[in-house]
Amino acid sequence: MKSLELFDLTGKTALVTGAARGLGREIALGLAEAGADICFCDLLEQEGMNTCSDIEACGRRACFSVVNVTKPGEVDRFVQSAIDQFGGIDILVNNVGIESEGCPIEEVSDEVWHRIMDANLSSMFYMARAAGKHMIARGKGGSIINMSSISGMIISKIFPRHNVTYGVSKAGVAHLTRGLASEWAQHNIRVNALAPGYMLTASTQTSRKFPEIVERLTEMTPMKRYGEPWELKGAVVFLASQASSFMTGSILVIDGGNTIW
Ligand SMILES: NC(=O)c1ccc[n+]([C@@H]2O[C@H](COP(=O)([O-])OP(=O)(O)OC[C@H]3O[C@@H](n4cnc5c(N)ncnc54)[C@H](O)[C@@H]3O)[C@@H](O)[C@H]2O)c1
Repeated sequence: MKSLELFDLTGKTALVTGAARGLGREIALGLAEAGADICFCDLLEQEGMNTCSDIEACGRRACFSVVNVTKPGEVDRFVQSAIDQFGGIDILVNNVGIESEGCPIEEVSDEVWHRIMDANLSSMFYMARAAGKHMIARGKGGSIINMSSISGMIISKIFPRHNVTYGVSKAGVAHLTRGLASEWAQHNIRVNALAPGYMLTASTQTSRKFPEIVERLTEMTPMKRYGEPWELKGAVVFLASQASSFMTGSILVIDGGNTIW
């Protein structure tokens, strides 16, 4: 196969969580531009409808459902409806995540701890379990991409905001990725994660209101800027496609060099 043909996703179906806006939206559009049909979910109905039209404008089939991925029953119904409508799932992008707690660890309530773990880690387990069972039974392999973060690798200097709970959840995503990769390699299901640095989306809006945080994080990043949401698209198409066929259990860092120093 010629090199650019390796990236072609024509005829594939991708499930993307949290694709109404932000990184998930760009990822869903990127997969559609590479040829995949897209089934995605979110909690935001209007934004989801807009993403749906934009995917269809790429000439692909799109299907949007309002689903709360922290609820295993809703996740199972979402995955089954994608299988019923599209005939099977080849790619899963577990993108949903919520922003950091913002307060010191000794002040984090049980409710906040569980809310972040449920949204950022348990949701990915529920989605991977449902989609993985289907991929195993179908016998055609697959590619699963989980959204981790550099905050799962380092303790970020984001004070006076704090994000230990967030970071622990993202470290869990990285280890879930390795565990799934080791168990499902025998089924030709590859599981990798992305670890982005600081990106310009709604989830960094709160911390970007603090000029000293923006200045510090920019200074700490060799490329001296935040990432644009579209800058993850290429990596996701790579991980979803044959271009990465010998890659599993990897955590791909895309951070403008932030974790070098
Ligand atoms: N923005 C960054 O700098 C950055 C850096 C590293 C990792 N990440 C991760 O990337 C992912 C996307 O982040 P983003 O910046 O685009 O965030 P975002 O808030 O802009 O988008 C997240 C989407 O997920 C949806 N969502 C939230 N909870 C949900 C739930 N329970 N069920 C269904 N949908 C739900 C939201 O409605 C939203 O559309 C997250 O996992 C985040 O932790 C972001």
